[in-house]
Amino acid sequence: MDKLIIEGGNRLIGTTHASGAKNAVLPLMAATLLAPGEHTLTNVPDLKDIETFKKLLKFMGCKVRTNKKKKTVVIDSTNVKKFEAPYELVKTMRASILVLGPLVARFKKARVSLPGGCAIGARPINLHLMGLKLMGAEIKIEHGYIDITAEKLHGAQIHFDQPTVTGTENLMLAAVYAVGTTTLENAAMEPEIVELAKALEKMGAKVTGAGTDTIKITGNGELKTFKHKVISDRIEAGTLMIASAITRGNVLIEDCPTEHLAPLIAKLREAGTIIKEEEGGTRVIGDWPVLSTDIKTHPHPGFPTDMQAQMMTMMCVANGLSVITENIFENRYMHVAELKRMGAKIKIDGRNAIVKGVGRLSGAQLMATDLRASASLVLAGLVADGRTEISRIYHLDRGYERLEEKLKALGANIKRVKTSEKF
Ligand code: EPU
Repeated sequence: MDKLIIEGGNRLIGTTHASGAKNAVLPLMAATLLAPGEHTLTNVPDLKDIETFKKLLKFMGCKVRTNKKKKTVVIDSTNVKKFEAPYELVKTMRASILVLGPLVARFKKARVSLPGGCAIGARPINLHLMGLKLMGAEIKIEHGYIDITAEKLHGAQIHFDQPTVTGTENLMLAAVYAVGTTTLENAAMEPEIVELAKALEKMGAKVTGAGTDTIKITGNGELKTFKHKVISDRIEAGTLMIASAITRGNVLIEDCPTEHLAPLIAKLREAGTIIKEEEGGTRVIGDWPVLSTDIKTHPHPGFPTDMQAQMMTMMCVANGLSVITENIFENRYMHVAELKRMGAKIKIDGRNAIVKGVGRLSGAQLMATDLRASASLVLAGLVADGRTEISRIYHLDRGYERLEEKLKALGANIKRVKTSEKF
């Protein structure tokens, strides 16, 4: 198992770039199940979650070719023979649930392990299943698996109790083969949904309203292969922005998707960070003291829950009191205990975290608990006095493409080492 060792205190200076977006690639990979032939994805990041999804597609019978240098993945889903996502894969990556919609749509059946809770919350999938049921699918849950059959899906009017990103994606993926029009109301509006809609349209589907809260999909019996360039990762870019901001850095981020980062940019500016567009990218200049500001997470276009942990690190070194409210996941404060070990002053009260900025953190031995929590600990290590060691960074590798290399190139004192974790 690898761990990261960081000697804090260096200012980050230079140029970096945002890689392709994990949460955009995964639904696009699921979409390749919809039509036989070779589908091509470009700007695909080299991440653990993408590898897991490739494994899943191969398990089903797809052929997958990767050119890591060119960041291209070609998926041929002509010979899908298994219509199943097994427990071993779903337990390592919940987004495996995204194969449910396309499998039922194209092959009329699917068997997918029911995802359990995870480190950030219970994360039920009742809304995915409710939608498929309204479209005519028969659903049985037995022995920890969801078994779905549907001779023919039909269009339906589906209202989500609350916006769900993968729920919206799953139903879009199913609706492209349904007879008639499906309307998704109170749908998720994330940029990743818009990307999926673009790919589905390239395949011949009719999708309108993606990016708004009402999406209409009209089924089409014949879909074809697609080629799509993945958008930049707004969460990775946001994490790099905070890295520059809290180290009093001066970093130019190429391919920074600022159009998807408005809520974060607004908060960073409130905290005193200078952000400006330049020809080659987005420049982020950090200034001290960091000013405290309150954060409330909401579905897009609100402040993203996937940036909450990183922003909390920033507030830990700010000059005053900040209240952070996590409205999406009920248990997304696993990083708090670790930050406290570095001297942070944080009090949790239900969905609120009250953070009293302490100006400086002190390096410590830490354990990563989930993907974005890991990123918050790396950021904390960058501004802490002395040495920080972060173990269990396989969580980080799920969603950040060699983050330590990008930070090192900007001047961070950070290295990855192998450990045997005896204790
Ligand atoms: N929810 C339900 N029922 C459902 C589905 C969701 O109650 O059937 C609830 C969830 O429990 C949660 C809220 O709805 O309280 C929103 O969850 P959502 O379904 O939108 O989350 P998700 O689709 O499972 C995606 C991202 C997450 C990101 C969330 C929120 C992917 C693969 N994952 O998850 O990304 O945090 O949306 O934006 O797109 C990450 O990248 O670190 C990550 C966790």
